[in-house]
Amino acid sequence: MPAVPVSLQHAAQDPTVLLATGLPELDRVLGGGLVRGSVTLLGGEPGIGKSTIVLQLCASIARAGGSCLIVTGEESVDQVGRRAARLGANVEGVMVHADSDVESILAVLDHVRPKLVVIDSIQTMSTASAGSAAGTVGQVRECAQAFTAYAKQHGVASILVGHVTKEGSLAGPRVLEHLVDTVLEFEGDRHHSLRFLRAVKHRFGSTDEVGVLEMTETGLSSVADASQLFLDDRRSGVSGSVIAPLIQGRRPMLVEIQSLVNAVQQPAQLRRLAQGLDSNRLAVVLAVLTKYCGLPFNSHDVYASVVGGIRVDEPGADLALALALFSSRKGTVISSDLVAVGEVGLGGEVRKVSHLSRRLNEVARLGFRRALVPKGSPSGPEGLKLIPVSTISEAVSYS
Ligand SMILES: Nc1ncnc2c1ncn2[C@@H]1O[C@H](COP(=O)(O)OP(=O)(O)OP(=O)(O)O)[C@@H](O)[C@H]1O
Ligand SMILES: [Mg+2]
Repeated sequence: MPAVPVSLQHAAQDPTVLLATGLPELDRVLGGGLVRGSVTLLGGEPGIGKSTIVLQLCASIARAGGSCLIVTGEESVDQVGRRAARLGANVEGVMVHADSDVESILAVLDHVRPKLVVIDSIQTMSTASAGSAAGTVGQVRECAQAFTAYAKQHGVASILVGHVTKEGSLAGPRVLEHLVDTVLEFEGDRHHSLRFLRAVKHRFGSTDEVGVLEMTETGLSSVADASQLFLDDRRSGVSGSVIAPLIQGRRPMLVEIQSLVNAVQQPAQLRRLAQGLDSNRLAVVLAVLTKYCGLPFNSHDVYASVVGGIRVDEPGADLALALALFSSRKGTVISSDLVAVGEVGLGGEVRKVSHLSRRLNEVARLGFRRALVPKGSPSGPEGLKLIPVSTISEAVSYS
């Protein structure tokens, strides 16, 4: 007898069940919470806080009455317990199991039937059904497939933790992206306390949002006002620092872009370093400054960075970067009440950016008085003076 397909009209009638994670910023990225039977891959560099965030969300889901199981393949039960104690988390209802054998874990799951299972990490798991050695890509894929099949069959929300190397590849897990429903990237600079969560794939909602969290002694806490946090440590009256109103996910955020330009004795070994910024954008902006502002950087080391460990990948940051570079190269100081936003084109023109009014509302909210914006931009909120510029050479006269 052949299998009978079901009518789509009658499929998926259940409302989507969401498990709120207790971390508003994580829920924001997930579009409300974890979906029953969904599989989420949580990738991040070593030490970024993956085990911490999963422990916190398990504690919170368990508090709300859902049982959770943490399967740890790389730490002992004691280590997980010590983390819970250090974080002061109420872990009643959270179970922990140290194991790395998929078949035996599935048997435990059958017995426990939790609402949520966390596999920490997928790279430490092994299954007899894959011929290859533990830790290989084949093994990782096979293990993930087994957990995914279990999650779908039994409606258990699952989180697979995956390590990402410094180069950004989810060593092994990148091959899992098509298998799972959601891929979250957990990033930030380990030396800063800020962490960012992004969904790079999400079958249940948008991938636009960015969650901002802060690592504290009691674990990760959601940051509601990231702009304010970024501006807290700002020193005014220094050259090479410019504030840019950027869009992160769907939220406007003010970030400080810094640059340091140093004349060097040996121009043969020039340094170009971009931290949190795309190094190609840095190269373009330097070339444009050289060509259209007559400002060579051919005997200078150039460092550019975004403060706070955030990664900026929108061209709207170009103008602020250009001003920061110009200011550091010339030793001038940019007025601390000024922000700048705009994309810089190869012809030296300043191009428009999306969502300008939202950016400018944030600028006004944080007390800035003037904004350099691309020409043709609509007017901004009351109290904020807009300075429209059409070319980079016009813009640098303000630095
Ligand atoms: N005693 C402590 N006080 C404050 N923060 C701590 C303390 N111990 C660890 N941390 C923070 O927790 C981070 C490690 O968190 P966690 O173990 O969750 O990371 P991970 O991503 O799971 O790491 P791994 O790749 O080793 O599994 C550290 O980098 C540090 O920021
Ligand atoms: Mg860990």
